[in-house]
Amino acid sequence: MPGPGAFWFGKEETDAVIEVIRSGYLFRYGSENDPSFLHKTATLEREFARYSNAGYALATSSGTASLLVSLLAAGLEPGDEIIVPAYTFVASYSSAIFAGLVPVLAEIDESLTLDPVDIESRITPRTRAIMPVHMLGNPCNMDAVMKIAEKHGLLVIEDACQSAGASYKGKKAGTIGNIGAFSLNIFKTINSGDGGIVITSDKDLYERAFAIHDQGHKPMRFGVEVGSRNILGLNFRMNELTAAVSLAQLQKIDRIISTLREKREKFKKLISPAKGFRFRRLNDPDGDCATLCSVIFDTREQAARVAGSLGSKTVDQSGWHVYSNMEHVLSHLKKIGQPHTRGAYPRTDDILGRTINISVGVVDGGLGSGWGININSTDDQIEAAAEQFIAACEN
Ligand SMILES: Cc1ncc(COP(=O)(O)O)c(C=O)c1O
Repeated sequence: MPGPGAFWFGKEETDAVIEVIRSGYLFRYGSENDPSFLHKTATLEREFARYSNAGYALATSSGTASLLVSLLAAGLEPGDEIIVPAYTFVASYSSAIFAGLVPVLAEIDESLTLDPVDIESRITPRTRAIMPVHMLGNPCNMDAVMKIAEKHGLLVIEDACQSAGASYKGKKAGTIGNIGAFSLNIFKTINSGDGGIVITSDKDLYERAFAIHDQGHKPMRFGVEVGSRNILGLNFRMNELTAAVSLAQLQKIDRIISTLREKREKFKKLISPAKGFRFRRLNDPDGDCATLCSVIFDTREQAARVAGSLGSKTVDQSGWHVYSNMEHVLSHLKKIGQPHTRGAYPRTDDILGRTINISVGVVDGGLGSGWGININSTDDQIEAAAEQFIAACEN
């Protein structure tokens, strides 16, 4: 049960799936005159765009597909450099690599997202874009990122895969840069097993993204078009079953986030008297999804000791979200001369070695958040977890 949406699967999702199965029509395209065509995918796109206050939304098969489609739609070309944080999921790098780009890694700060100060020092004449990743439900410092992007004429592709429902200073994640990518996999705020969404308010970008996600087609085709396609695409389409579940989850997103915020606030208050750590900085405390509670200890030793006694891990030990743990990406980065081994990003290493991710809504060992509470935890369970944490800090 890794993500909060998964904890809240219920009658709404079941009914939506049965409705589509009974219709007998699972493809995203169909005729409006055909009563069996329920256009769930098109409805999801319309609803997600409305929810995000974005001009357009495009449903895809995954967050990775959303990122790849976004990068290609943005017109980035092989050899172009894109600045990405040294702490993110492997797909931020692999999508850039599959688009032929050079991922240039940059340090994070104590918000566990891109450090704007470090971004500028990574810019070269080949830099074309920045990929801020709104890690663990918390938006990046987008004012600073956008200022740098404007100053240097760079595109901004937001990896909002972990942040459906988050916002930054009143704007939904994914709407601040040129284009934003979301994931609907099981670990995310809302999920349909696997799935993704791209949002943008730029019509050209949307049309290009649509074509790339579906063999060069124009948006919302009804049949097989003949001719007039000038963009090479692949197939990253979402089907009606996935869209039906995603739509049911989207109806719950605000309630999921407000419940998580309430539970995290309780937990934070209870553990605040313990010594030796501070909470991760939130770039916009009012816009954070509250899927996790990350604590940064003063020393690596204490972080490792506390994590060990909770049966958890410090973030640097937690798998594919840390640049130096991605063995398959490492050999590629080595080939293209990008620093990649542990020690290459000392500030990131230092912060992640002192950090523990505590689950609030995303219970995921791969994110280092195997221990904590969840969206259904009762007050008693939250108190018990807080007591356990405080005792671990005092040992
Ligand atoms: C930051 C980030 N980017 C991209 C992805 C890729 O999403 P998906 O698994 O849906 O392909 C993930 C998924 O974990 C992610 O956390």
